[in-house]
Formats: sequence, C-alpha cells, structure tokens
Amino acid sequence: MKRIGILTGGGDAPGLNAVIRAAVKTAVMVYGCEVVGVRNGFDGFIDEKGILPLGVENVRGLLPRGGTILGTANRGNPYARKMIRDGKEVTIDISDDIVNGIRRLELDALIVVGGDGTLRIAHELFQKGAPVIGVPKTIDNDVGGTEITFGFDTALSIATEAIDRLHTTAESHHRVMVLELMGRDAGFIALHAGVAGGADVILIPEIPFKFESVVAKIRQRAERGTYFSILAISEGAKPVGGMQVFSRSGDEVYTPRLGGIGHIVGEYIEKSGFETRVTVLGHLQRGGTPTAFDRWLATRYGAAAVRLAAQGGFDRMVALRDAKVVDIPLAEALAIPKRVNVNGDAVLTARNTGISFGDE
Ligand code: F6P
Repeated sequence: MKRIGILTGGGDAPGLNAVIRAAVKTAVMVYGCEVVGVRNGFDGFIDEKGILPLGVENVRGLLPRGGTILGTANRGNPYARKMIRDGKEVTIDISDDIVNGIRRLELDALIVVGGDGTLRIAHELFQKGAPVIGVPKTIDNDVGGTEITFGFDTALSIATEAIDRLHTTAESHHRVMVLELMGRDAGFIALHAGVAGGADVILIPEIPFKFESVVAKIRQRAERGTYFSILAISEGAKPVGGMQVFSRSGDEVYTPRLGGIGHIVGEYIEKSGFETRVTVLGHLQRGGTPTAFDRWLATRYGAAAVRLAAQGGFDRMVALRDAKVVDIPLAEALAIPKRVNVNGDAVLTARNTGISFGDE
C-alpha cells in the first residue's frame, strides 16, 4: 500500500476530523503510506485544486474540531452531477471521471466517510473498479449494519441540553414547548434525547401520530395540575395517513428538505387552547466539537479503515458490533437501513416512563 485517498461526503457530522486524523496517522506511521485528501466529497476528483496531500502535521489538533477539514458536498452524486456546459445547466454522469481520477492518482484504496447516500455511491464505484472502503457517519444514526455512527452522540447531547433549557422556561410560563429535531427517516435523536431530557411527547418517523392523542396527553397533564409540556419531534415525523413536511422540494440532484412539522403540531396544540412555542434546533445539532465518545469511535473507525485497506478489504465498511469494531460488506450495510425498533426496549422504556408517542 503506497498511497491512499480519503474523502468525506454528505452532511457533516462531529467526528469527521477525528477519522481523518486517525487514518492519516495509521497510514503514515504504521504502513509508511502516503495519504491524499479529496476535497468536497467526490467533487475533488474533478476540481483542479481538489487533491490535498495529508501528513501527520496536517492533522494536528483535529480531535476537538467539528466539521471536516476536507469539506463535503451533499449534492455531489457523481451519477447525477449538475454542471454548466455551453452556458446551460445539465445533469451528467461523471462516475468514470472519479474512477479515472483514482487511477491517475495511483490510489491503492479510497476511504469514503459518509452516510447511506455516499456509501451507496462508493459501492457503485466499486463495481467500476474503485478500491473503496466505507466508514459510516451520520448524526441520524440510520446506517445499517452498525450499532452506532459517530456524530449521533454529539447531536444527542445538544438535543438533550436544548430540552433541559426548554424545561425551565416551559415550567415558568406554564407553556407547551415543541422542539423540532433532525431525523429524516429515523427518530433516534428525538427518542434518545426525549428520554434523556424527560419529554412528555416524542414523535418519530417510525410511529405515525394522531394530533388528538398529542393534545390528550397535554390535557391529561394539565388536569393533573402540570401546566407545561415538552415535545421532542423528529423533522421526519408524520401523522397517521399523512405525509412528511418539507420546506423545499427536491429533484434528481437536490434531496427534498424536511422542516415544518414542529410548527404544524405547535399550531394544532395552540388552537386546542394551550399556549405553545416552537423551537427548531436545526444545524446546531451538527456543528461544533464532538463528544469524547464520538472522538473515540471516529478514531477507532479511522484506524480500522486503514487496516482494512492494507488487507485489501474493498467494498466493505467498518462497523461497531457488540462494542467491537468489525468490517462488513457495504452491500449488507446498505440492504436494510437502521430504524428505531418500535417494539424495542428504548420505545418500551419511554412508554413505561409515561412518554406518549401520540399513537394511543
Ligand atoms: O442526514 C443528516 C441530516 O442531519 C438529516 O437529519 C437532515 O434532514 C439533513 O441532514 C439536513 O441536511 P442539509 O441541511 O445539510 O441538507
């Protein structure tokens, strides 16, 4: 193994820099191998200044740093890339340019750090001959085949702190506080933060809710003399028989942008006679310094990805299983995305402790 590449794709997540740091250190110090960083996801292969040599000196001080020093792109799908050609916007397939870029740079492996979208692209590029190794990341924790992705723990801490802060003001003003959290198709952030912060209602994509049930829970609390309630809602939550709420539609390049369910639920509660305020936590969940757990997991993933590259374990992904870092086929990770088990102990624990999912 003489030279490897590393890139970060999709939405950022706290811990990306810790993966880069661990991968560079392991590659250079253990295998005497060169590392190049590919900027802004796969785009770096087609940009003039898209490739950045990375030595140990370039990754100093990265552990507490949020974001990614390589940049990322969540519109960087090489199979559907928007470009300006002859003054017109066109969508073209540049996947062959990526594979040629890997060959031109003589990369023995390409470490792709991303969520399910980016990892799927990596898997498809492998079919064209790219020697890819996957590292799972996302604050949503929705990548299959692994118990946890780094970034989730940091997002969870921020979401829990937000619930704690809303609690004191909700109680003082006898109000309902709605907190809209990230979670496109998986409700892990809202579920875990809701349990950790003591929310009264948790709404997640996996459990469609009824508006009347949400209000019934708030009314029941008021009748017992508790005049405030806290709701933790995933942005991807939807009512029974209804649809997810988007603030912007998508196309073949742009993913539709979720957002707005918190305000819809908030308005319904207010119309039912309870004073309500809505907070959308948004990208605060993705920014800033990673927790110790995320740095620890990201570092283990980064080092393990390089070891896997040295063994020629292409088209595979590092993963956490039974608290051990292992590697699994990318196809297996992509086959079944991870979702909250609606009959699992986390949901049961929430119900046991009086939390409503708005479904009863
Ligand atoms: O996938 C992680 C995530 O945080 C989702 O929960 C959210 O819908 C999405 O990213 C938002 O991404 P962006 O605003 O960067 O397009």
